[in-house]
Amino acid sequence: MSYVINDEIIEKVRETSDIVDIVSRYVSLKRSGNNYIGLCPFHNEKTPSFTLSQTKQLFHCFGCGEGGDVISFIMKIENLTFPEAIKYLADILGIPLEEKKVDKKLEQDKKTIYEINKEAARFYYYNLINNKEALMYLKSRNISKNVLNQFGLGYALDSWNSIYDYLKNKGYEDSDIEKAGLIGRRRDNSGYYDKFRNRIMFPIIDTKGRVIGFGGRVLDNSMPKYLNSKDTLVFSKGNNLYGLNLVKKHSNRERIILVEGYMDVIALYNHGINYAVASLGTAFTREQGRLIKRYGKDIYICYDSDTAGINATIKVLNILREEGVEPRVIILPSDQDPDDFINNNGSKEFQNLMAKALNFIEYQIYINRLKFNIANPEEKIKFTKEIAKELRKLKSPIEKDVYIDKISLETGISKEAIKKEVFGESFKDNKPIRKDKYINKEYRNNKSKIIPIKAVLEPAHLTAEKTLIKLMIESYEYFELIKEHLKEKDFLNYECNILANIIFNQYKDNNQLTGIDTNLILEKVKNKENIDMAIVEEILSKEILFMPEDKYVLIKDLIDTIEFSKLKLERKQITEEIQRIEANKYKDEVYESQFKSLCLRLTEIDKQLEAYK
Ligand code: UTP
Ligand code: MN
Repeated sequence: MSYVINDEIIEKVRETSDIVDIVSRYVSLKRSGNNYIGLCPFHNEKTPSFTLSQTKQLFHCFGCGEGGDVISFIMKIENLTFPEAIKYLADILGIPLEEKKVDKKLEQDKKTIYEINKEAARFYYYNLINNKEALMYLKSRNISKNVLNQFGLGYALDSWNSIYDYLKNKGYEDSDIEKAGLIGRRRDNSGYYDKFRNRIMFPIIDTKGRVIGFGGRVLDNSMPKYLNSKDTLVFSKGNNLYGLNLVKKHSNRERIILVEGYMDVIALYNHGINYAVASLGTAFTREQGRLIKRYGKDIYICYDSDTAGINATIKVLNILREEGVEPRVIILPSDQDPDDFINNNGSKEFQNLMAKALNFIEYQIYINRLKFNIANPEEKIKFTKEIAKELRKLKSPIEKDVYIDKISLETGISKEAIKKEVFGESFKDNKPIRKDKYINKEYRNNKSKIIPIKAVLEPAHLTAEKTLIKLMIESYEYFELIKEHLKEKDFLNYECNILANIIFNQYKDNNQLTGIDTNLILEKVKNKENIDMAIVEEILSKEILFMPEDKYVLIKDLIDTIEFSKLKLERKQITEEIQRIEANKYKDEVYESQFKSLCLRLTEIDKQLEAYK
């Protein structure tokens, strides 16, 4: 039975419910200041990181990142859709719901169209099996009998009235056949004609197995190449994807590939790749983006390699990124679509291309290299500007840095030039912006002594810092082990450094603690200037999996990583310093001695670095 769920009801549910009441049916909650905390019901944990704010009526888990209001809590925990959750809560709260009057006529019309479509698909299939020419065509396209059956392919006869007669014979009304989009009214109003004639038919089947529409392809080069059903009561192109029914049935949903054409989906399937879908000959929509997200963890786009394909890829990338997914783009050799490629090269080669698929930034570099000839200085500038525009959109400074290095390496454009474009004029050669620099606390009030250490840390170094921070928060025992090697100031990442300060202070004040409450940390970092809360939350929610007996090894490895990376940082600074001194025309004794001591230190560092190998 369905009920009327409108804004008024939703508002009422929100107003009447208390998140603490509802959640405490599932989680044992403890008060903590203004909030409540408990063990998160959405992931396994031993220390509570699930928090609830009564004033805000919101929950959030720092362990797994789940969060939302009372409605999303119920949706998640009871595995319900939004309207179902409203109904569920309304029942608990005693809010009466009005029964929805089903539009019987509409439901009946839809049912008829589904039936007609199914009958039509059967008829087309029967025609195909009995038509040599159509079968030959599919054979020429390499399609196996099994795949033909899986997709329920068919053939529309070269006739103006065969589907019409067939369906009339089955007892369907003209108006219903017309509503299904299979026939059109003759211009002189003297009757109807079949819309699909002499075409290979591709039934479009939804995830519930219902035929919702058709695509039809000519057998030669005539135009239009494809005809598609118009949108009907049961078919809306922007809300469906061709092939999704088979993805649902066969794929393990680890990955999904979006392609352009019917034939691409079929060819991939023919070669064992059962996780491709196609948008239905219209611009890719947000709704299709949501569908894709649901049916594949890793998302790939593999459109034709021509200009139209590139432009369409960019649009899809933007839509998917707005939906919060990071797809990768599979690059095909020029003038090929997935169908051509897999037929020429086989599935192994296709999977090799998948393994090399480009992420967003890599794809931007790729297409801009096609667009600009960077051997020409002017075009090189344009290229750099275009890429910088995309780099600016990246949130993580580490990521920015990695790509700046990569672009510089690939193009020979200096890192400084790229950085200048990315960060704007405020960027000066060796004075990166605040975030990229760690200012040692002892020198904070004495600016002339600021030691700039570039904290654009290597990824491994950064991860090591974050992991050690999390370990120290988790237990005093780990803290003791770690503090033998590292001091607060040794944490170079801005956020890690702030957290290290908090941790060291907490344990100093109270070494009875077994670990530190994440809420307390959140409270303390709240007002820190310029802190990136995303990084803090990432650290707090980090899961570190290891056997207790391995803890010494783990911690030692992490500390080694940091020490190794720091030596490399120092080495880099010293070589830069040496180059500066060498470039100076007026070399005097002070310079000479400075030069010598730097060289000595360099030798020392190299020795130590050697020891890590
Ligand atoms: P393509 O022309 O790339 O199709 O159009 P394709 O699948 O590679 O076709 P083959 O290999 O020549 O058989 C991509 C998609 O765009 C839509 C169809 O959905 C097609 O699969 N399209 C194309 C149309 O709707 N109408 C057309 O006339 C052409
Ligand atoms: Mn093709």
